[in-house]
Amino acid sequence: MRIGILGTGTVGSTLGTKLVQLGHEVKMGSRSTNNEKAAEWVRNSHSSKATQGTFSDAASFGELVFNCTPGAVSLEALEMAGPQNLRGKVLVDVANVLDFSKGMPPTLTVANTDSLAEQIQRTFPDAKVVKSLNTVAAEIMVDPQMVPGDHDVFVCGNDAEAKNQVKKILGEFGWKNITDLGDISSARGLEMWLALWWRLRMYFQSRIFNLHLQRQS
Ligand SMILES: NC(=O)c1ccc[n+]([C@@H]2O[C@H](COP(=O)([O-])OP(=O)(O)OC[C@H]3O[C@@H](n4cnc5c(N)ncnc54)[C@H](OP(=O)(O)O)[C@@H]3O)[C@@H](O)[C@H]2O)c1
Repeated sequence: MRIGILGTGTVGSTLGTKLVQLGHEVKMGSRSTNNEKAAEWVRNSHSSKATQGTFSDAASFGELVFNCTPGAVSLEALEMAGPQNLRGKVLVDVANVLDFSKGMPPTLTVANTDSLAEQIQRTFPDAKVVKSLNTVAAEIMVDPQMVPGDHDVFVCGNDAEAKNQVKKILGEFGWKNITDLGDISSARGLEMWLALWWRLRMYFQSRIFNLHLQRQS
């Protein structure tokens, strides 16, 4: 599959590397044509399947696109990617809406009655937004076995076929427990989990942990 990655940070490069290893063609996008972090990612990938360009180049390249930009500026980044390049495509939103400006732990820039994923879906109505993977650290996204035992990842979005495509990729990453929370408004809970995630991260002094859901059978 051809996949566009919007973002040159830890998440963009971690997802991009794993997707290339799985045999996908990946274009990493940033605000500039010759972003040094993207160029380094391409070099380290040692694969003709890894390329870089602008946000717009990556979005038009991808049959499926990942949003790996800071939640507070994701709408701007997606605007640069171009609504026409996102039309009809699955847009996997892994971003979190963290505001570090007042110290630790961060607060959320949107919560409770709205979410970034809903804002993205409203702003880009022709994209099929699926929220996923924002609840775990980047390393775990592509290597869930890092955390021992059973643990869980989530998807939500308004388009069932789009969610199926994302579930397939999650399966390629090694995820076994994938819970579909329904429509895109479930992103509120997934994004608000970060309030507790950050407390746990500070308490554990580690990013390598995750949720496991246990229910009465
Ligand atoms: N780190 C994790 O383990 C983790 C886990 C789960 C979710 N997340 C979420 O995943 C997202 C990506 O995180 P990250 O740490 O990989 O990267 P990041 O540092 O949050 O974002 C890097 C990207 O954001 C772009 N960017 C920065 N300011 C911008 C602006 N004003 N307008 C447009 N684009 C801008 C940068 O563009 P340039 O390349 O042009 O500089 C770069 O591509 C975040 O929302 C984060 O909360 C992170």
